[in-house]
Amino acid sequence: MSDALLSLNGIHTHIGPYHILQGVDLEVPRGGVTVLLGRNGAGKTTTLRTIMGLWQASQGTIRFDGAAIQKETTPAIAQREIAFVPEDMGIFSDLTVHENMLLAARGGAIDEERLGWIFGLFPPLKTFWQSAAGNLSGGQKQMLAVARAIIEPRKLILIDEPTKGLAPAIINAMIAALKELKELKEMQTTILLVEQNFSMARAVGDTVAVMDDGRIVYSGDMAELAADTGLQERLMGLSLEAHQ
Ligand SMILES: Nc1ncnc2c1ncn2[C@@H]1O[C@H](COP(=O)(O)OP(=O)(O)OP(=O)(O)O)[C@@H](O)[C@H]1O
Ligand SMILES: [Mg+2]
Repeated sequence: MSDALLSLNGIHTHIGPYHILQGVDLEVPRGGVTVLLGRNGAGKTTTLRTIMGLWQASQGTIRFDGAAIQKETTPAIAQREIAFVPEDMGIFSDLTVHENMLLAARGGAIDEERLGWIFGLFPPLKTFWQSAAGNLSGGQKQMLAVARAIIEPRKLILIDEPTKGLAPAIINAMIAALKELKELKEMQTTILLVEQNFSMARAVGDTVAVMDDGRIVYSGDMAELAADTGLQERLMGLSLEAHQ
């Protein structure tokens, strides 16, 4: 518990008149991938946005790498080497893949060695380096969005549903890339991944937390949840297998 890179304790978030997060307790261990599961509207995206300071928590603490960050601004949080890949990916359609990457690189220069790793993870980015990002397929855009997040060293990457709307073959490519990323020692990156596709969640997740109605209702090892269909049924109302 003490070695968590990120921990949320009793986090409440209000959006206008709505009380969305109602006491979120979440631990993200150092290294590896934590998957955040939960039905539509459970509060997953709101949790990521609250971590980034895009929503202000009204109560509770968020500790990252030993510091309380819940009152910090989004730029200050990003400076702590936390990156956010939002659901809409936030890429610039009219700019080339190269230009999108340049904008994500600090100081306007891309580290060639990191770029080499990234091309290894996501070969289509090399192929379409000079194409407008708007012309990429949905899966390739997701690759670009994740690549932008890792072009600089990051301690933590928050990724919101990277497989939404993607075909199974592309999902498999994404699974392979995230698995490789997690094994790339040089990257030393911890990932908090929102994912409803259970084959993806199970393939890349080390630990898992399940949200419902603005709270975490289960957390533990992914292997345990993956092996226990009864538990999946109790948590999700149906077997996670049905989410594939
Ligand atoms: N800007 C907003 N204004 C009002 N309500 C919002 C806003 N954003 C989110 N909500 C509400 O907060 C709740 C949680 O939304 P959130 O987007 O965090 O869910 P989610 O778990 O990411 O769902 P999904 O799987 O559909 O992406 C929902 O009831 C949603 O309607
Ligand atoms: Mg969401």
